[in-house]
Amino acid sequence: MKIEALDIRKYFGPVRANDGITLTVEPGSIHGLLGENGAGKTTLMKILTGFISADGGETRLDGRPVRFASPAESIRHGIGMLHQEPLDFPPLKVLDNLLLAFEDRLIPGRQQVRRVLEELCRRFNFSIDPDARVNTLTVGERQQLEILRLLALGAEVIILDEPTTGISAPQKVLLFATLRRLAKEEGKSVIFVSHKLEEVEELCDRVTVLRQGKVTGHIEAPFRAEQLVQLMFGQSLLRSDRSRVPLGEPALELQDVTVQTYRLTVSHMSLAVRAGEVIGLAGLEGSGQRLMLRACAGLQRPSSGRVRLQGDDFTRRSYRDFLAAGVAYLPAGRIEEGLIRGLTLTEHYVLTQRGHQPLFIDWVGAAEGMQHKIAEFNIRGQSGTPVEALSGGNQQRALLSLLPPVLKVLAMEHPTRGLDIESAMWVWEQLLERRKSGTAILFISADLDELMEHSDRIIVFSGGVMASPIDAAATSIEELGYLIGGVRDNS
Ligand SMILES: Nc1ncnc2c1ncn2[C@@H]1O[C@H](COP(=O)(O)OP(=O)(O)OP(=O)(O)O)[C@@H](O)[C@H]1O
Ligand SMILES: [Mg+2]
Repeated sequence: MKIEALDIRKYFGPVRANDGITLTVEPGSIHGLLGENGAGKTTLMKILTGFISADGGETRLDGRPVRFASPAESIRHGIGMLHQEPLDFPPLKVLDNLLLAFEDRLIPGRQQVRRVLEELCRRFNFSIDPDARVNTLTVGERQQLEILRLLALGAEVIILDEPTTGISAPQKVLLFATLRRLAKEEGKSVIFVSHKLEEVEELCDRVTVLRQGKVTGHIEAPFRAEQLVQLMFGQSLLRSDRSRVPLGEPALELQDVTVQTYRLTVSHMSLAVRAGEVIGLAGLEGSGQRLMLRACAGLQRPSSGRVRLQGDDFTRRSYRDFLAAGVAYLPAGRIEEGLIRGLTLTEHYVLTQRGHQPLFIDWVGAAEGMQHKIAEFNIRGQSGTPVEALSGGNQQRALLSLLPPVLKVLAMEHPTRGLDIESAMWVWEQLLERRKSGTAILFISADLDELMEHSDRIIVFSGGVMASPIDAAATSIEELGYLIGGVRDNS
């Protein structure tokens, strides 16, 4: 099915999120939509799928004008979307989740749906257990389920909004193979939204680049990276040179620490992280790096061993005590864990100032404080904007802006996930600046370049085993990729 957007406009107050966007996606092709954070990608896709309505312009399917009042209506016309922030998943079984998809249609029986699911899984090499609960699936598995759900509903146009965020390297390989197959063999139209050049280059037949709500170019493969960068940012980027800081005393020590959950045990971890040092944690999703990081921040109690901060034993202390001692934790799930849906930026600001607040909240002062952060971190939004109205990248900036100014240890999951290159470079500049005042940084990343570029030492996790740290300067991306899973990852 051919889908056309003609002169689409959408304004949010003063923000021209979509400012006259025109694009055509041909059946049987993978069409990339590339643009920096806040460029208007998600807004456009939400308009095409009836999540929000446009202020102007027209959508056509195979030449016929259509207007969708809801996502249900758009999927009835064969357009389905995988969202950037996962929709809420109730603790349902996979099978029931799929049954629900059939809402008001003729409801097939459980057995029939089970067969459809098994058949689809075979076709795409997915392995999803029909009886698993959806909230226990990994991000990658949820995504596979969502693709199957859209196919079961008869989607002809499949839109994926930054689908590689948060999935493992093998899951990404499988996803790309699936998308190629959907386009080339089944004639579907695929729209792949991303701000990652390499992914677009690898996968897409055609790409439309957006910048500040406008189209800056439509290009056919093969693409030239420089040209794409130019269209995205308007100028070429320089790579930052890494400065070194002298390392101080150990800020954080793990002594033979074991952490255990019902899913995974990570045993005998020992490590001393010095003030000003940056430690990158690598590994496939679920290999133990997140448990280790959470133990470092007091979010996961060790079942044995000791955790020390500046030499003091914090092993059995609470997260509050860790916070008070200058440890901050930045989670990966922005809306699920980090930010609170429904609250504005100013309200978040007030929450982070808790403890320093007198009995009455100074809202005017808080709004001003947040206004400074917005300017400093270049957040596209206002102090009164509810966080869910920010674009994905701007949510990440908001989280970073709310970190306490002085820290001993900063533990982060995927600090630049969802950010475009320029924003990611800027964020790292800010983070590395903190080393000068002695902050030790530990971060998880799935991006090997990011690990190599910013870490002093890298620790690879695999199946619950923490390997000894390696010197980032003395290793190569290939070696790292091999250590992580024997799978070469081009991202
Ligand atoms: N509901 C809303 N209310 C107010 N402003 C909004 C709303 N949704 C989006 N915006 C603004 O519109 C602009 C475009 O946002 P959009 O989410 O489309 O960007 P994006 O290209 O998807 O960015 P990212 O890569 O960060 O996800 C941003 O400045 C954003 O803050
Ligand atoms: Mg987006």
